[in-house]
This record gives sequence, structure tokens and C-alpha cells, in this order.
Amino acid sequence: MSFPTQRPRRLRRTEALRNLVRETRISTAGLIYPMFVCPGTKVRQPVSSMPGIAQQSVDQLLEEAREVEQLGIPGIILFGLPESKDATGSSSASAQGIVQRAVEAVRKANLNLVVITDVCLCEYTDHGHCGVIENGEVANDATLEILANQALSHARAGADIVAPSDMMDGRVAAIRAKLDDHKFEHLPILAYAAKYSSAFYGPFREAAQSTPQFGDRRSYQMDPANAREALKEVALDIEEGADMVMVKPALPYLDVIRRVRDNFNVPVGAYNVSGEYAMVKAAAANGWLDEKRTVLELITSIQRAGADIILTYHAKDLARWLRSS
Ligand code: PBG
Repeated sequence: MSFPTQRPRRLRRTEALRNLVRETRISTAGLIYPMFVCPGTKVRQPVSSMPGIAQQSVDQLLEEAREVEQLGIPGIILFGLPESKDATGSSSASAQGIVQRAVEAVRKANLNLVVITDVCLCEYTDHGHCGVIENGEVANDATLEILANQALSHARAGADIVAPSDMMDGRVAAIRAKLDDHKFEHLPILAYAAKYSSAFYGPFREAAQSTPQFGDRRSYQMDPANAREALKEVALDIEEGADMVMVKPALPYLDVIRRVRDNFNVPVGAYNVSGEYAMVKAAAANGWLDEKRTVLELITSIQRAGADIILTYHAKDLARWLRSS
């Protein structure tokens, strides 16, 4: 049966009808807000390519974390800018490290926030790669113990979830074993399972000062052309003990999010990354896009594709818009 019996426009006539039949209802409940913590006090250094986002010292970060909590956003993910970098990223696992101190401060303030930490070496190595270098290459197995120690130090500081983003093979198993050995068997792992080697991380590398000093990340992050391989990565991470998996970036990989959602029964996250944010901000600043409508549409698309959890720099704006709508 088709027209004139079928008239899909009947259900689009009024806002009330549209609301009633809406398939995807976004809320702040699945949002995670990424934050960058740097040394010092009273530091708030805006990231030029990410309007609204700043590198902040622990005291300032705490203020913003309070705001995030009050907006009803359930969690944050922390990235650190350490005081010093070296070849093996040794400051990444220090109990007095920058991320560890930020986690402790948020814990001490008793904020009702899920605190996620990014586990990776690129912010802590002087060469900017996500693992240690051997014979001019990023060495896989030699990196695993360092990552596991970093994750353990985050756990000790009070993180609720650790999220490895390095893309070394076997890192989820190494982190799981290390956490279990130290009585953190209850701590969940959110694996950046399908992380693509993407141009969209550009602004983040300014924010986190983590640009590789030679070469690129294509020998460990995924080729953007591959979707089947994402399913393999996700399967391996779940086998190794990942409790949740993530696809990153989000918008150019909605098909991957959908396939992961359809193939696995764990919570699926999507990272709406820095470059995706910067594009919207730049166009909006020029008056070329309506920021609110654009962001609501993009986040709806990511959720419609199957993401349960969305990491996004738009989280605070979204929470305000969703509250007033
Ligand atoms: C660390 C890491 C990166 C991002 C999250 N964790 C950068 C990279 O891999 O180069 C990117 C996040 C963003 O662009 O917003 N490995």
C-alpha cells in the first residue's frame, strides 16, 4: 500500500507528534567531557584550535569539573601535560604525575563524576609516539609493561575507569593482569579498540602537546579504509578483558560504530574528536552553520549509529541545550 493511503508526513505535522515518534532521544546521560590538565596553579591556557577548551592546572580543572557535575554530565576523561618528557614516558606512571594529582583532587572534592583516564604514552614521551622506540620503530611488547604501570597508577589515584588509547597489541590483557595483581579486579577498562590513524586529531595534538616528532602513527593506529578489521580489534580487546569498547573518531566512522554495536554485547563508546569539534566551531564562528542545530544533529547521528557513550568537547553546551529544550 502506498500513496495516497501512506502519507509519512502525517507524523511530522506538529512538534508534539514529532516528539512522540522520535526514534533517537539524546540526553546528557551518556556524555563524557574531555579535559586537559597541566602543571602550575591558576593556569588556564586556551587551546586556539578548540574554542572553549583549555589546558588547566588542577585547581582550575576542579572548578570546571564542578560545573560539569552541576550540568548533569556523568563523567570526564583526563589527559595530562607533564612537567617533563623522556624516551620512555616515565612520568606517565608517577604517583605525583599530573593526571594522578588531578584524579586525586576530583576524588577529594567528592564530585559525583565518573573519572576516566586516558592510558597512553604520547603525551609523556619526548618523541611523541604512543610507545617506546626500538630500532626506529614503535616497539609493541616493550611498551606493554609501561602502559600497565601507568594504568595501575591511575587506579591507585582513584580513577573509575582506565581507557587505553595507544593501540599496542595486547595492552588490554597486560593492563587487566596488572590491575588484577594489585587488587583492582573491580576496575573497568574502556578500550579505544577501533582507533583510526586520523587527520581529525590535529587540534588535540596542540591541546596535549603530543605531536609525533618523526613519522606518524600509521604503524599502530588503524587504516581509515578498514571496517572489518575494526571488528577484529574489538573482538580481541573484549577477549583480553575490555569491559567497553570505543570507536574513534566518530563522524567519519558511523558505519563502524553501527557494525560494532550489531556484533558485540558490550557498551560502545564513540569519541567525537578534536577535529570534528574544531570544524563545527570554525564554521559556526563564521556564521556558516547554526552551532546548536549542527551539534544536536551530529550527536543524534552518533547515538543513532549505536553509541551508548559519547566523548565530546560539546558536552557542556549540549547539557545546557538539552536542559532548556
Ligand atoms: C592519545 C590520544 C589522542 C586522542 C585521544 N587520545 C591523540 C592521538 O592518538 O594522536 C585524540 C583525541 C582528539 O582528537 O580529540 N593517543
